[in-house]
Amino acid sequence: MKPGDSLMKHYLQFKDLRAEEYAYLFERARIIKQRFKNYEKYQPLTDRTLAMIFEKASTRTRVSFEAGMYQMGGSVVHLTTGDSQLGRAEPVEDSARVISRMCDLVMIRTYEQAKLVAFAAHSRVPVINGLTNEYHPCQILADILTFIEHRGSMQGKVVAWVGDGNNMANTWLQAAEILGFTVHVSTPGGYEVDPQVAGITGTGCYKVFKDPMAACRGADLVTTDVWTSMGYEAENEARQKAFADWCVDAEMMAVAKPDALFMHCLPAHRGEEVSAEVIDGPQSVVWDEAENRLHAQKALMEYLLLGRIG
Ligand code: CP
Ligand code: NVA
Repeated sequence: MKPGDSLMKHYLQFKDLRAEEYAYLFERARIIKQRFKNYEKYQPLTDRTLAMIFEKASTRTRVSFEAGMYQMGGSVVHLTTGDSQLGRAEPVEDSARVISRMCDLVMIRTYEQAKLVAFAAHSRVPVINGLTNEYHPCQILADILTFIEHRGSMQGKVVAWVGDGNNMANTWLQAAEILGFTVHVSTPGGYEVDPQVAGITGTGCYKVFKDPMAACRGADLVTTDVWTSMGYEAENEARQKAFADWCVDAEMMAVAKPDALFMHCLPAHRGEEVSAEVIDGPQSVVWDEAENRLHAQKALMEYLLLGRIG
């Protein structure tokens, strides 16, 4: 795909791709992962450059995109608010026009989704959401790849979301609507998911539970996230109190299906949103989940730049 191609796609939310595109991506990720594990060189993105813009901290997203791009033959430019003109109020639209004339792909981690949307609207090349206040689609892409590897298709399955109605929760809801599973959501009062912010078309893809134990009952996957997301640090004290009963522990895992998996996008706080026993226990697949950021995003970058292969 050339810059400005009419077939160009951005990946700003999970719902930017259709179920059949996800089926393709999960299969590509499987193949790309297998080749990588076999030390087979695969460099379809030679001479392509990814610009990565981080306005929030990151370990996994940075390493997975940067390593992934180099492994596929390309290179990366890493920008932060502090070391670029973005931090000195250059308009996001102008930044998009300039960066997208020099690079082939852009990944952005920022605060408001609206900023990402504004960047994409002025970009000649595909833009990927590397996390916003509202969504984290690359993480759910990796999470579903991980589920498929361990348990097969997610269709008809139940995911228990225990914790904040945040960017991860919103993205799980979008994924449930597209891929045909149900999310049991349990959040403290005042931290509920908002279907409008979640960007879902109906409410059939999720059920709300006051009691986190009830949300976990019969679940195929139990998942959670930090109580205080990046950008919400001022609310930390209030959140510590409000979320005290929303810690995924062995009791919660015991009411899920016997073969239920536990996931967490990481970074995790043992003793807050999850007990050490659960995250370090046999049902936890958090390290596979983190590794799969690499393989899933390599498939995504290949798709956005080259379209379907073969
Ligand atoms: N899960 C995730 O996005 O991790 P980082 O914040 O380290 O990128
Ligand atoms: N919800 C968390 C996810 C971190 C990867 C945050 O936005 O900080």
